[in-house]
Amino acid sequence: MAMGRFAEPKMGFVVLLLWFMSGVAGAEYMAYKDPKQEVDARIKDLMDRMTLEEKIGQMTQIERKVATFDVMKQYFIGSVLSGGGSVPCPKASAEDWVKMVNEIQKGALSTRLGIPMIYGIDAIHGHNNAYNATIFPHNIGLGVTRDAELVKRIGAATALEVRATGIPYAFAPCIAVCRDPRWGRCYESYSEDHKIVQMMTEIIPGLQGDPPANSMGVPFVAGKTKVAACAKHFVGDGGTVKGIDESNTVIDLNELLSIHMPAYYDSIRKGVATVMVSYSSWNGHKMHANRDLVTGFLKDKLEFEGFVISDWQGIDKITDPPHSNYSYSVQAAVLAGIDMVMVPENYTEFINDLSSLVKNKVIPMSRIDDAVERILKVKFVMGLFENPMADFSLANQLGSQEHRELAREAVRKSAVLLKNGKSDNQPLLPLPKKAAKILVAGSHAHNLGYQCGGWTIQWQGVAGNDLTTGTTILTAVKNTVDPSTQVVYESDPDASFVNSNNFSYAIVVVGEVPYAEMWGDSSNLTIKEPGGSTIGKVCGAVRCAVVVISGRPVVLEPYVAEMDALVAAWLPGSEGQGVADVLFGDYGFSGKLARTWFKSVDQLPMNVGDAHYDPLFPFGFGLITSGSI
Ligand code: BGC
Ligand code: BGC
Repeated sequence: MAMGRFAEPKMGFVVLLLWFMSGVAGAEYMAYKDPKQEVDARIKDLMDRMTLEEKIGQMTQIERKVATFDVMKQYFIGSVLSGGGSVPCPKASAEDWVKMVNEIQKGALSTRLGIPMIYGIDAIHGHNNAYNATIFPHNIGLGVTRDAELVKRIGAATALEVRATGIPYAFAPCIAVCRDPRWGRCYESYSEDHKIVQMMTEIIPGLQGDPPANSMGVPFVAGKTKVAACAKHFVGDGGTVKGIDESNTVIDLNELLSIHMPAYYDSIRKGVATVMVSYSSWNGHKMHANRDLVTGFLKDKLEFEGFVISDWQGIDKITDPPHSNYSYSVQAAVLAGIDMVMVPENYTEFINDLSSLVKNKVIPMSRIDDAVERILKVKFVMGLFENPMADFSLANQLGSQEHRELAREAVRKSAVLLKNGKSDNQPLLPLPKKAAKILVAGSHAHNLGYQCGGWTIQWQGVAGNDLTTGTTILTAVKNTVDPSTQVVYESDPDASFVNSNNFSYAIVVVGEVPYAEMWGDSSNLTIKEPGGSTIGKVCGAVRCAVVVISGRPVVLEPYVAEMDALVAAWLPGSEGQGVADVLFGDYGFSGKLARTWFKSVDQLPMNVGDAHYDPLFPFGFGLITSGSI
């Protein structure tokens, strides 16, 4: 009886103890998995557990096309990207994206240490690869607004749309200071003036959230509705000779630091998580191999603690021809201080070369550890370990009405009124909504793809109205005029048609066709044919307002005298209604040029402050009309 009385609880205790011990042995406590630990302690704990292979995997970013579950698992891949136009399926929904990203993530999580991968994409004017996303104006238009708070809201909206598709990382903003509009990426630049570019880095706290005060250099991302940002392309991308993409920026250190560097300082102060290196060279030295600037300046002097990512095959281009000595490229890039390499497809070659270089002590282990610690820091800070898998809860953010309204606001604030009325008559704008019959003409009046520009659905952009949802300028005009006003649309009407129709006035929309990167380099900067002749035929016969859709100032001088009004609308994106808002006076024009509008290309490069400054329209120019803005 007495035995029984004590034996039972004792047995119970032993069973409990055994159960408890087996539990501990089965799930060893791992500090890196404990969100209550400090980030640095988590990094240290994880680093201590990692093999060289696992570390090199973290440094490898591959394209989604090659990112199968098995590849993720076998090579411990740390990051995956969508290149321009690389989508799970045509017209993919938010759910299609989330499923794809999660499938890749499952591969990463199935590894021994279960380190989540970080998925990145170019969301450079809204979530531009995604069907149905809100397409915001390209940066060249946003610079015009000088409205940092607006740009911050655009960052926040973009973060939500990117997260809606399960993606936590955007390769934006481009903080290039474009000094020559012949550059095919000029539209990715906010301005020729670094002060405007600096101001526009407010998009970073929009994308990532507001960092705590006094945290210079520490990457910051405020959780599941924000994304890691990427200041690019470090440094001097906008200063290349004749604006030739990826070429050489020939300037002294003083100019590099005073024109192209300041926005990096702002970005880092605002907690930018990553920085992408530029394809270009500085005084003949490839940036991807520039240890002094990447490690010496960015990491040591500016105290940037996030990670440095290469550009797409950027390290391949360290050698000429590209990829002719890949092992050397890997060595030069990693020793320069690049932490993550956007490979993006030949990952086995990258991994093998980097492993040999470390095993042969060409690259010290300390360099690998620095790279991996930085990558892990971003992943821990943003909560990726706690929330690696996306869900469908934000799906309705993609292309939401609220974001489209915000884009429309940005469109009207980015339009610049360059001319309003010939010397001998009244201003034409704002246009009357009530008129018997009006003409809308021009190659760009009813072409959503043209008004969105490059980096929209496809890398090089798309022509036509099918690519995604949005409002063309023609549709916007029809939405805005009085129901009694007859709107006639003819892309390229002949003069007799214009003459014989008794139009009250005409709106002519012409410009450049979409391009991206080097495909957009242009030495003549002309608009698409027959733009000039459409202007001539229409404006010769009826009072006309010309709207130019372009990624930069283009040759207009020969046509300006014929126009009654001229508006630079840049690349406004999906919400063409914003253009009609200012044309018809529902809102006033307020935009001021953030670039110099040249007369002829032989003046280039020509930027505000230059001795030979003789523009068609100077930097800062912009007429206003009454109305709220
Ligand atoms: C990709 C882009 C990338 C480009 C680099 C294209 O094939 O789609 O994302 O920027 O290559 O040259
Ligand atoms: C561009 C980058 C872009 C990357 C990924 C490169 O060609 O230069 O700006 O982030 O491709 O698409």
